[in-house]
Amino acid sequence: MPNPSRDALIARLPKAELHLHIEGSLEPELLFALAQRNGVDIPFASVEAVRAAYSFSNLQDFLDIYYQGMSVLQTEQDFFDLTWAYLERAAEDTVRHVEIFFDPQGHTERGVAFETALDGIERALKAGEVELGISYRLIMCFLRHLSEEEAFATLDQAKPHLHRIHGVGLDSSEVGHPPAKFQRVFAKARELGLHVTAHAGEEGPPEYVYEALDLLEVERIDHGNRALEDPALVQRIADEGLTLTVCPLSNLRLCVIKQIGESPVRRMLELGLKATVNSDDPAYFGGYINDNFRAIADALDLTEAEIVKLAENSFTGSFLPMADQIQHLAEIAEVAGGR
Ligand code: ADE
Ligand code: ZN
Repeated sequence: MPNPSRDALIARLPKAELHLHIEGSLEPELLFALAQRNGVDIPFASVEAVRAAYSFSNLQDFLDIYYQGMSVLQTEQDFFDLTWAYLERAAEDTVRHVEIFFDPQGHTERGVAFETALDGIERALKAGEVELGISYRLIMCFLRHLSEEEAFATLDQAKPHLHRIHGVGLDSSEVGHPPAKFQRVFAKARELGLHVTAHAGEEGPPEYVYEALDLLEVERIDHGNRALEDPALVQRIADEGLTLTVCPLSNLRLCVIKQIGESPVRRMLELGLKATVNSDDPAYFGGYINDNFRAIADALDLTEAEIVKLAENSFTGSFLPMADQIQHLAEIAEVAGGR
């Protein structure tokens, strides 16, 4: 049930977004504009036709369109425009900190230099810090449908830029590409001092979540829905205090759940898991972070205490130093307490 007082709380609460693929924030309008600017052919006649194509039965359906969409991103300015548009939108949702993913292999595969993507994204993130007051971390994902060798080559490309990249992640087609495939690459990334996270248990079984923990030694789990199928795994995630970056509207649009009321967020909180709410690929899944909060708040009738907890988890699950986390928690308390 909609609840105006709860919506007002969501609108005002400071929050961090920990699961956002910057390429997944490419709105159809910008996709069209960049296609024109760069003379790239796209198989759509209008913005409406693009939106109509955003109907997916599973993760792979989406990924096919997502990689196609990326083809319009060619220059440093394109990556800046993409990232800046996301940050401006995030600021409207009182996002104070973002830890965004990018997919370098989605660009280098098409002949766009690693640095072109990195420079444009980082320039916008730095501007966002100054102009919008949004701090950031940048996480480079390996595409898991590609080989271990290609992931190593990508890590090599990142090496001159390790002061600009804070972590590595693992995304793309999950089933058939278990975390074990990337055990050595992740070991190397950790050795280089990078944070590590991985998509696990979005479509893949609980065993993939175990592998992410045991073999990749992840600090967070992206999605993690299917971990709930295994009580021992749930206990372990709770005991280790790991954060789960859950994406409700993504889950709905990719048919991970049949209706928004099936979102595991409340259940995770009840089980003592550190769930967070995120938008994943907002341009494709029909909503930014506050849309995700409102969708589950209405469907699950979340209490204000639960919403505050989710906002708190977003900072305590971030890669920010403790002092910064504490400052954000104080700001949350101020907003929540002043009601
Ligand atoms: N790449 C972009 N969004 C993704 C998702 N939800 N799962 C896996 N890979 C992705
Ligand atoms: Zn994702």
